[in-house]
Amino acid sequence: MSDTATPTVIRREDYAPPAFLIDTVDLEFDLAPERTVVKSTLRVRRNPAAGPAPHLELMGEQLEFIGAQIDGNACENVRAHEHGLTIENVADAFTLTLTGACNPEANTTLSGLYVSSGNFFTQCEAEGFRRITWFLDRPDVMSTYTVTLRADKTACPVLLSNGNLIEAGDLPDGRHYAKWEDPFRKPSYLFALVAGKLVALEERITTSSGKEKLLQVWVEPHDLDKTRHAMDSLIHSIRWDERRFGLELDLDRFMIVAVSDFNMGAMENKGLNIFNTKYVLANPETATDVDFANIEAVVGHEYFHNWTGNRVTCRDWFQLSLKEGLTVFRDQEFSAAMSGGDENEAARATKRIEDVRVLRQMQFAEDAGPMAHPVRPESYVEINNFYTMTVYEKGAEVVRMYQTLFGRDGFRKGMDLYFQRHDGQAVTCDDFRRAMADANGRDLAQFERWYSQAGTPRVTVTTQYDAAAKRYSVTLAQGYANGSPAARDTQKGPLLIPFAIGLIGPDGADLPLKLEGESSSNATASTTRVLELTDAQQTFTFVDVAHKPLPSLLRNFSAPVIVEYDYGNDELAFLLAHDSDPFNRWEAGQRLATRELLALAARAATRQPLAMNDALTEAFGRVLNDASLSPSFRELALMLPSETYLAEQMAESNPAAVHAARQFVRKGLAAALKNEWLAAYDANLTPGAYEPTPEAAGHRGLKNLALSYLSELDDPAEAVRLATAQYNAANNMTDRAAALSALMNAAAGTGGEQAKQALEDFYVRFEKEPLVIDKWFSLQATQRGTAQRPTIETVRTLMRHPAFNLKNPNRARSLIFSFCAANPAQFHAADGSGYAFWAEQVLALDAINPQVAARLARNLELWRRFTPALRDAMRAALEQVAAQAKSRDVREIVEKALA
Ligand code: TRP
Ligand code: ZN
Repeated sequence: MSDTATPTVIRREDYAPPAFLIDTVDLEFDLAPERTVVKSTLRVRRNPAAGPAPHLELMGEQLEFIGAQIDGNACENVRAHEHGLTIENVADAFTLTLTGACNPEANTTLSGLYVSSGNFFTQCEAEGFRRITWFLDRPDVMSTYTVTLRADKTACPVLLSNGNLIEAGDLPDGRHYAKWEDPFRKPSYLFALVAGKLVALEERITTSSGKEKLLQVWVEPHDLDKTRHAMDSLIHSIRWDERRFGLELDLDRFMIVAVSDFNMGAMENKGLNIFNTKYVLANPETATDVDFANIEAVVGHEYFHNWTGNRVTCRDWFQLSLKEGLTVFRDQEFSAAMSGGDENEAARATKRIEDVRVLRQMQFAEDAGPMAHPVRPESYVEINNFYTMTVYEKGAEVVRMYQTLFGRDGFRKGMDLYFQRHDGQAVTCDDFRRAMADANGRDLAQFERWYSQAGTPRVTVTTQYDAAAKRYSVTLAQGYANGSPAARDTQKGPLLIPFAIGLIGPDGADLPLKLEGESSSNATASTTRVLELTDAQQTFTFVDVAHKPLPSLLRNFSAPVIVEYDYGNDELAFLLAHDSDPFNRWEAGQRLATRELLALAARAATRQPLAMNDALTEAFGRVLNDASLSPSFRELALMLPSETYLAEQMAESNPAAVHAARQFVRKGLAAALKNEWLAAYDANLTPGAYEPTPEAAGHRGLKNLALSYLSELDDPAEAVRLATAQYNAANNMTDRAAALSALMNAAAGTGGEQAKQALEDFYVRFEKEPLVIDKWFSLQATQRGTAQRPTIETVRTLMRHPAFNLKNPNRARSLIFSFCAANPAQFHAADGSGYAFWAEQVLALDAINPQVAARLARNLELWRRFTPALRDAMRAALEQVAAQAKSRDVREIVEKALA
């Protein structure tokens, strides 16, 4: 696209079925790094369900046209152009053979066919297949694929594609071939090939119906010792999907391949999942507990796509959340089950808390800015920009609400009906909603608004207790914050909000629940009730309420909304100590801390003195000392809300003030609870061999949180001593990285020299482990920085480090994104140095990899919400990028931000 062209907006309302269908695809690849020749033979026919079209229009990008044949004859009426091929006046059914070439070696976009460490990989979602060969590259065109790969046998001993291997053998001139057949019809975005020098960990399993399957995890030879956990995660995923949803693996062979150059987390190509190495490789020395958990979640996510995404796919890209929201929900449920079994609610809650924290910090922010869009967007310029927190995480919340409304069994019935109706089809979010509605005998017309209304709903709660009548009424009112994009939109009407509530008595125990008009036999024994809010405002009255209760609102975060209710600090402390809903216990602590931190930030912004609030210290102290709470819950409850989240809660975001306030509270808690932190440190040591179990990880998490608080003390000698010992003795990356981080934190005190030494040791020790070196860059990019040496200087120095490489997305993220997105106080430096750096890097990446550049570009989209002093500098940086960026990806982001 040229600088001046107006972008083409794709609209959901313009959807039309494809004029032609492609039943079979036969691909032949002659793989060579600089020029790979692709011959594609397609059986094409007119789509009976579409309007007339004389010409066949195929998409193609960055392809060299070599030749075309129709039914074996040279084809004259073909025209190659910038966006593909036009073949004029075609018959109703014919066989089309196209030959073209591409240059994988020169492909830095990591979309289409590319080379990484000398091996070949593909990435086709969303629109990468057209960079390999000409095609109807849209998800509602489904075909069966046969793929022949030919390559040099020494350079590429391994040749993989989707489905089953049906033939292999040698060819002249040191070449060889492999032929693969995928029995399932699929859209082009699920095509994949891998070729190169790789080795596999293998395992055979028998599925629930007694079929034998081959599982493989393919990596570069030196990484074979880091594949066990991914394999275990795959086996657990297969078992869980059989148990929970009755869904079996459908292919004889299931492969995972790791690649170190990758734009996102992983990709669910049929039978041949391709993963970022970050979500495959792990052993105790190189990966943290968080890495282990992320690998389990992403392996599960991609595996679960085999049914939710592949067997039933999306009609068009506006329906992306049909597969992503549903599959995120499935991976969240899987991880919860792995950490606590299907039934243990307290253990499951820690996963729920982590997921909600991400949703509120990232998705709520997205919904409050220029990229706000519904779960099913109405329009886009570049579809890659719509793999968003809204489509994934809010989409998962929307799916979760069906389960909250109908229970696990009702949800399962809806899933069964969905597959019964739509297996093998490309469908819409409406089809999913209809399956849920019909299986449960419910009219879900109103629920559709969750898919079409952007913005975060607010539910305002007021309560009234009538002691004489023993009645307690709860009034819920829904709407949007003034000035939010959703409030400016024409709204579609009230949402159906499942609002889970409990009432807590003066002794801290749940009260029995009986709504007005309910007979006692009607009232269930459960002390949590899911109220269904369907109007703009509604009152629910509980009867036989013996004492004035304290309400526990939106238990387990039953809907993706903001709850407004005027709790007193003492009430929040009471909830934190007693609520039977573990999510709301955590939530009460967060509300208490957020309120205090925002008050302190307001004072810091106007240079008033700060003072600690004893109520907060006492509440946190009680949690820390409460041995009845699991260590992982205590860790989450004692973590303060992030600076980013806090800044977004201010009328005008002021990162410096938030940093001052949060640091003040961290130091205050460190000092006031010093002995408790030291005791927690000792009580949670995990001597012996490393185990990545949730229990052991919980102990390490709380211990390392204690160490991080201790590193804030004005005299950090004790923390430095503990951290140095921990760093040197560590037999696992969780403890080593936490110790290094604590040393760097304490560096302003007496820890300077130890931090420097540990950082050097860390680099030398792990020089040959790219994923660990990513951590080394990231730790430095997120460090505090001092007046003498602001972090931007460290970052600019590291940009020149021999191990830095802008073309590798993981490395770019570890340094540039970590600084711009995870170090707000330093990035938003008053002199604008962070913004100048950001603009430089967005433009540099724009020329290499537009998808990655556009992610970084989003970092400034909330500029209008910042203090005036920063706002102008942010706008200037955005304008600079808008004036110079070339890619459609980056242009869409910065133009929306400036509009
Ligand atoms: N479908 C993938 C997932 O959710 C994500 C994905 C979309 C992707 N586009 C991509 C991954 C491009 C890598 C590159 O699991
Ligand atoms: Zn996905």
